[in-house]
Amino acid sequence: MKMKRYTISKETRTRCRIFHVSQADMHQFQSISLELFHYLLEIKSIDFTIYFRVDDEMIEFIDAASFSHQLVHQIIAARNRDYHNVDICVAQKDFKRFEALISDVREKKIDLLLRRDPLLDAQVIRSFVNLSRASQMMVRGGLSPVVAAQAREAAGVLVNNLMECEVAVGTLSRMVRADPTLYDHSASVAMLSGVIARTMLGRSREDSVLITQGGLYHDVGKTCVPHSLLNKPGRFTPDEYERMKSHTTLGYEEICRAIDQGSVIDRNVARVALEHHEKFNGLGYPFGRKGRAEEQEDGIHLFSRVVSIADVYSALLMKRVYKEAYDARDALKIMQDSAADYDPIIFRNFEKNVQKTLVRFEALEKKQPNGKIIIVDPGIGTRIRKTSA
Ligand SMILES: [Fe+2]
Ligand SMILES: [Fe+2]
Repeated sequence: MKMKRYTISKETRTRCRIFHVSQADMHQFQSISLELFHYLLEIKSIDFTIYFRVDDEMIEFIDAASFSHQLVHQIIAARNRDYHNVDICVAQKDFKRFEALISDVREKKIDLLLRRDPLLDAQVIRSFVNLSRASQMMVRGGLSPVVAAQAREAAGVLVNNLMECEVAVGTLSRMVRADPTLYDHSASVAMLSGVIARTMLGRSREDSVLITQGGLYHDVGKTCVPHSLLNKPGRFTPDEYERMKSHTTLGYEEICRAIDQGSVIDRNVARVALEHHEKFNGLGYPFGRKGRAEEQEDGIHLFSRVVSIADVYSALLMKRVYKEAYDARDALKIMQDSAADYDPIIFRNFEKNVQKTLVRFEALEKKQPNGKIIIVDPGIGTRIRKTSA
């Protein structure tokens, strides 16, 4: 495939300050995913500068004085095209401010969504936000004892507030349809993994908390892969694909390093990062492990077999720069077509439960015009109740 290169226009060269950045200078900047960058369309001002990197030139593209949605749209349009040489960044020193702004917008969006859509479950959304906070800390700050403690706490809260799988899966799917920018892949994988472990498989509380953490940490190695590659719209070259695949081993090494430096993380959580792209039939990576670790030496750990199902389902529901979101029914159909990738016992359970969710939510959606449906949180767990119009 022909590589497209972005070139800086004359107009931008006149309007903006542009300077050269070497690879070594890049640590002073933090790149921003396009998904998060969209949040700037929800605000009226910024108190930092947005940089647009083109090859080794850094453009001060939007500063506090020039902020406008039109300029934000210009960057989005450039990133949406198939350019390989661009990146959106903020200075490392401004990153906390950017982060605060994003969580503010996220919380407002969530409030609005909960008020607008009575079929969304507040308990599920709250647990999701909690997990998402932990996953964002991981991505931005790296692994530390504080981040590990936040991840354990968020996983514990999810498992304590045991939720029906229909409500969790249904709420996640509706949320992503209503506002795709709220979706956080690691948080949703964590939530689905926890729900599969606890409610579908009846695992112990301890195991379920660890599996939820496995979901949170599974893609931590992606912080070592450049954003331009993660968000690449077209096909990967063989080299790029190898680089993408390395997020499994890099994530594993990073978690092991954090454990050795005193972070409280279970070794099996690190194993999930390593094995979450292994397939039950042996056709996955990085090692081509096969079957169950309980039954054979080169088998895949139970925690990884759960997280791999949650991972694929979550990725299908998510809208990305390079693909549209599938609805819950189509996502399940795609997974059924490659069922040999997953542990058949876990997958059968998952399939049955997602099907139940679809039936339940579709029935509720049909009833919505005639009667208001509210979801109540009676304290422990959740249930759905229909009220008269
Ligand atoms: Fe992954
Ligand atoms: Fe993933």
